[in-house]
Amino acid sequence: MKIRKVTKAVFPVAGLGTRFLPATKSIPKEIMTLVDRPLIQYAIDEARAAGIKEFIFVTSRGKSALEDYFDQSPELETALRRAGKDQLLESLRETNMDSGAIAYVRQNRPLGLGHAVWCAKRLIGNEPFAVLLPDDVIAAEKPCLQQMVEAYERTGGNMVAAMEVPAEKTASYGVLDVAEDLGSIVQVKGMVEKPKAGEAPSNLAVIGRYILSPRVLSNLNKLKSGTGGEIQLTDAIAEEAKEPGRVFGFRFRGHRYDCGSKAGFLQATVAFGLARPDLHDEFAAYLTELMAMQKAAQ
Ligand code: UTP
Repeated sequence: MKIRKVTKAVFPVAGLGTRFLPATKSIPKEIMTLVDRPLIQYAIDEARAAGIKEFIFVTSRGKSALEDYFDQSPELETALRRAGKDQLLESLRETNMDSGAIAYVRQNRPLGLGHAVWCAKRLIGNEPFAVLLPDDVIAAEKPCLQQMVEAYERTGGNMVAAMEVPAEKTASYGVLDVAEDLGSIVQVKGMVEKPKAGEAPSNLAVIGRYILSPRVLSNLNKLKSGTGGEIQLTDAIAEEAKEPGRVFGFRFRGHRYDCGSKAGFLQATVAFGLARPDLHDEFAAYLTELMAMQKAAQ
């Protein structure tokens, strides 16, 4: 079986980000920063590590800060060079995207994640592609998408990142109906979007990393609204899962932070702050002091 390389990635960033209002009234959620890098930068770095060469953003009104973020900034670069701030200059250059490597397509109305991916169909063409949701930030020794690309090169088909969640949490995720559990990879026979606790086919929840075949785009073409009146990506993938061996779940190695929620964003901020050698000591000492003060006040 000849498996085509995955070189294109779609970043759906056209959602309203209502859970972070009022901040998201004027700042795209993806520009919010974990320590000193916006969420989108973590997703771009992960995609680059996985061999992605073309970056497709599905945007909407009010996201111009996101587009500007990837432009070169000659004034800043000159100022940093003059000041001899080489490390900062390097970190700034890492954010630049080559001309032509990045494309933007507009989703006029937030009709759901499936619809957002569908909007990129002309830019994807007839080849496999990755989808990364930037508000899922994954801390991992080997970046999650790279792990998936390596697994996908053995399986082909469609692959979704999956993680075990407690039964009471299934209603927040797309959940896999497992045909065969092969360890890090599971064969999938169906997918259910946001099943109630007790009605989920498994406790394996899909998170925001996918490698998809162009057939999923054709399925999206046919879909009307699914759960919650939105066009669900889950439904288009579930359609593929009806045929055995076409959809795989991948248990990635790493920790996923749901930065689309306030609690998840705060957890990620603490974890990423503590993981930074330049901040660790001061930050850890502060957290220890804070915990002690809270305990004393109880
Ligand atoms: P979310 O479910 O997190 O929705 O979307 P949201 O609008 O970003 O945030 P809340 O729930 O209102 O706080 C998951 C991903 O799908 C994208 C979002 O930008 C996010 O990356 N999305 C969602 C779209 O691009 N278009 C849509 O119509 C819906």
